[in-house]
Amino acid sequence: MTHVAIIGSGVAGLTAALDAAARPGVQVTLVTKSGLRESNTWYAQGGVAVVTSPEDSVASHVADTLAAGAGLSDDEAVRVLCGEGPDAAADLIRRGVLFDVEAGELARGLEAAHSAERILHAGGDATGAAIAGALITRLLASDVTVLEETTALDVVLQDGRACGVRLLDRSVLSADAVVLSTGGAGQLYPCTTNPTVATGDGLAMALRAGAVAADLEFYQFHPTSLAAPGNHLVSEAVRGEGAVLVDADGDRFMKHLHPDAELAPRDVVARGITHQMAAQGGVPVRLDATALGREFLAERFPTIDAAVRAQGFDWAAEPIPVAPAAHYFMGGVRTDLWGRTSVPDLYAVGEVACNGLHGANRLASNSLLEGAVFGRRVVDAALVPAEPEAFGADWAEPITMATVEYGISASRADLQQLLWDAAGLRRDGAGLDAAAHELASWAMPAVDDAKSAEDANLLLVGRAVVASALARRESRGGHFRIDAPDPGPSPARHSSLVLR
Ligand code: FAD
Ligand code: SIN
Repeated sequence: MTHVAIIGSGVAGLTAALDAAARPGVQVTLVTKSGLRESNTWYAQGGVAVVTSPEDSVASHVADTLAAGAGLSDDEAVRVLCGEGPDAAADLIRRGVLFDVEAGELARGLEAAHSAERILHAGGDATGAAIAGALITRLLASDVTVLEETTALDVVLQDGRACGVRLLDRSVLSADAVVLSTGGAGQLYPCTTNPTVATGDGLAMALRAGAVAADLEFYQFHPTSLAAPGNHLVSEAVRGEGAVLVDADGDRFMKHLHPDAELAPRDVVARGITHQMAAQGGVPVRLDATALGREFLAERFPTIDAAVRAQGFDWAAEPIPVAPAAHYFMGGVRTDLWGRTSVPDLYAVGEVACNGLHGANRLASNSLLEGAVFGRRVVDAALVPAEPEAFGADWAEPITMATVEYGISASRADLQQLLWDAAGLRRDGAGLDAAAHELASWAMPAVDDAKSAEDANLLLVGRAVVASALARRESRGGHFRIDAPDPGPSPARHSSLVLR
């Protein structure tokens, strides 16, 4: 019997668990630190980017993904995602996901930087809940052992190989293969679309286990979160349906910044908004969806409609205030195209991983697909262990980050503000350098409960983000340095980092 331990219950972990459990001779345990539903996946709105129409093509999805990635996406990873995407989406449907249909066909929406309408959605803007809900139903009917409300603390190693996971109660879950599918780290920043579970745990665990991480300087800020408590996401699909961004004078400022205006790549729109907000004294810009009509807004975007109303806005009648918020971590644990990390028997998949697919800027709605595609692949790798595929010259040698054991105590809020100021949408060398020194002087919290475990992980990941951002002296995609505003020489190289 082979025992696979899967950490996390988003689309990546659920897909891997169901695929692994379907193999003979495989025993699966899925560990998740909150309830099964609590994940970035559950809150996903816009949908799944995948080619399902004869008028669209895999080649065009590949081209759009590479263009959004700003010269850093790994060609082969993109080809795997887009090429295996239709089959993985068919698997989701087979497992009970009810995507929206129109006139008897799958409904397909448009999002920024896509050259075709290819975004499958469910429940209008409740795509993540529809996907996770269907997969969880399957999971609960399977032989997978599910441990909810169970925090994984660290990867346990024996002779340099992963052999299990240490849990918060200090017990060890032994396994032949450990799959990290712990999602992102939006809680690094004070404004984020991510739920509270997104604290970079898997990345921190992998770093402590000696794994190589990659592209940690690339954090994606979503352009349009509601500028109100909670930073509720207002999906790009709303702009895809025709909503526009306006400044304090009602002018469509994005028209002056990019030929695709509101549908320019995400990093461009987010920086455009930041620039405009600075020009108008920090006041949020507005998203004008009034032309879409009250009935359409309520029907096509029921989740957003409820969230907007709950904050006292009537978006059918007036533009709503929006601002960028931390949304998606392009960087993560470095893996090959099968989820193999640099530590034998340790795998990573989904948002926690970095196989180079998203480059410097993820194309909208490619990450649910990533979980569905690579969640299947990682199972093949975990059951037939092998060395990671060789990384080409476009992957830089890892920089080494020192651990610091003593220092002054700082709160999570302190960390979030420091990162927002120094490693947010606009960075510069002096600010990053000062942040690196400040972070080095902060004490690593003693881990005695779930919250302090998260705080320790956030501090480690925050240091790694700053170190990586300091090392990349150019601007590319989500990493914009005002002291080096242009891209460096091509071809760009992925950064790598290890902990000393
Ligand atoms: P997640 O779904 O984040 O799951 C991670 C899991 O790991 C969680 O269950 C968490 O509790 C668990 N976990 C974490 N740490 C531990 C630990 N220490 N121990 C045990 N368990 C742990 N992408 C799209 O493609 N289309 C969209 O429309 C879209 N909309 C989005 C809307 C919002 C509001 C957000 C936040 C993101 C959106 N994204 C979208 C991005 C996408 O949802 C995520 O990138 C993707 O769902 C990540 O899936 P995952 O399985 O890798 O991780
Ligand atoms: C959105 O609906 O705007 C989010 C899509 C994504 O993050 O891929």
